[in-house]
Amino acid sequence: MDKYKIGIIGGTGREGKGLGYRWALAGHTILIGSRSEEKAQAAVAELKELLHGEGEVFGMVNEQAVRACDIAVLTVPFAAHKSTLEGLKDALQGKLLIDVVVPLVPPKVTRVTMPEEGSASQQARAVLGPDSKVVAAFQTISFERLLSGELVDSEVLVCGTDKESRELVIGLAEEIGLKAWDAGVIQNAVVVEGLTSILIGLNIKYNVQSAGIRITGIA
Ligand SMILES: NC(=O)c1ccc[n+]([C@@H]2O[C@H](COP(=O)([O-])OP(=O)(O)OC[C@H]3O[C@@H](n4cnc5c(N)ncnc54)[C@H](OP(=O)(O)O)[C@@H]3O)[C@@H](O)[C@H]2O)c1
Repeated sequence: MDKYKIGIIGGTGREGKGLGYRWALAGHTILIGSRSEEKAQAAVAELKELLHGEGEVFGMVNEQAVRACDIAVLTVPFAAHKSTLEGLKDALQGKLLIDVVVPLVPPKVTRVTMPEEGSASQQARAVLGPDSKVVAAFQTISFERLLSGELVDSEVLVCGTDKESRELVIGLAEEIGLKAWDAGVIQNAVVVEGLTSILIGLNIKYNVQSAGIRITGIA
């Protein structure tokens, strides 16, 4: 697979660092984005320690990360989803956006709740415009195992505005050892984003950290 510059908006958080760590290990250049340059540098220092000094990881504010990247990844809490996208709308024009955000509404995070646009990733498309390329993915992958380097026992359903973008994201998932499936159009993301609330509920009920999903019946 080609190597990309991947800009992670909110890359200082748990999921952003987890994905950034795995993609850095796979040879991509990671641009950790934050609202604060200092916080971005602190996250880079953490990742460099995990990577034993290997890998290309840089820290900067979100807008710089988006302008400099080939592919943008969004990992902020849902409460900041729309406003973050509105603030980065110009910088995101023409970029593929991978939206990892789940529309969780605390404190009832085990209850599936969707915004009026249908899902978080449809909200992203509504903000960025009808020609934008948005892919919804990785919502079923919790950060613990990404950061610990252990095998991730869950698969990825990839929904998106176009087949080419979905295939690219499937490739990015496979590079970090995840089985990923083309789950169709962006409207289907409502199901995938909703699965996370169910998985959080299972984590609580069965006292585990990383309940996941698997597709069966396909050889
Ligand atoms: N955690 C998981 O295992 C997991 C799994 C699948 C999907 N997700 C989804 O991934 C997203 C991130 O989850 P997370 O656990 O990584 O979250 P997090 O650690 O709480 O936050 C991620 C980053 O978002 C930024 N942020 C926080 N509040 C913000 C605001 N009001 N405006 C703009 N940016 C803000 C912060 O970066 P700066 O302060 O540096 O700007 C923060 O480091 C969520 O939508 C979640 O549903 C998480």
